[in-house]
Amino acid sequence: MKSFETNEMSTAQVHSYLLHAIAPRPIALVSTIDKDGRVNLSPFSFFNLFSANPPVCIFSPSRRIRDNTTKHTLENVQEVAECVINIVDHKIVYKVNQASAEYPKGVNEFHEVGLTELASLHIKPPRVAESPVQLECIIKQIIPLGDGPGAGNLVLAEIKTIHFREDLLDEAGKPIQANFDHVARLGGDWYSRVTTQSLFALPKPIEKLLNT
Ligand SMILES: Cc1cc2nc3c(=O)[nH]c(=O)nc-3n(C[C@H](O)[C@H](O)[C@H](O)COP(=O)(O)O)c2cc1C
Repeated sequence: MKSFETNEMSTAQVHSYLLHAIAPRPIALVSTIDKDGRVNLSPFSFFNLFSANPPVCIFSPSRRIRDNTTKHTLENVQEVAECVINIVDHKIVYKVNQASAEYPKGVNEFHEVGLTELASLHIKPPRVAESPVQLECIIKQIIPLGDGPGAGNLVLAEIKTIHFREDLLDEAGKPIQANFDHVARLGGDWYSRVTTQSLFALPKPIEKLLNT
């Protein structure tokens, strides 16, 4: 093994090593608005589900390593504590990547990349119509992890409304995993796609114990 002490590495190297290693990561395409109602749309792969009751996702818009500036998404959720987390599938991933370009504040990435705004039921930021799953969220808390370049900001988002595209559910209302066509982020410019070939199922051991 080659071993590295993070406090002896540059932030860029820590970032690169960990992004390659801690992968694949799901991608949240987050829509927000600022206090003047201007819409923003940006992807975040420092993202996951952390609680089902209450249902809470966390994503992290980091301070830029280059110049320590903060992202519009963070500034927006500080102003208006709502967001939609739109799940990313293979069909939209190219547009999602385009949405990560650093547009000036106030530019609406929906228009720039050609995604469609769909009004949310209960909150002000719009959903992405092309996304297979859209989660309307209220921001519960924002936790800064530091104030230097690369520092994350944990945005704790409580999911209030779940929208599923109809073909993702069978007649009994059970999700069909293969139909999601998820993509995930890895290190550098790498992505992975969940296809029927790459999917496999493992029964949970607890079920076996209960059935014996
Ligand atoms: C797939 C993908 C995942 C990303 N994940 C993150 C992330 O987790 N945290 C982050 O700070 N930036 C991430 N980025 C970069 C941001 O999307 C990018 O900095 C964007 O310009 C932020 O937009 P905003 O300033 O409008 O919020 C990611 C980019 C892509 C393409």
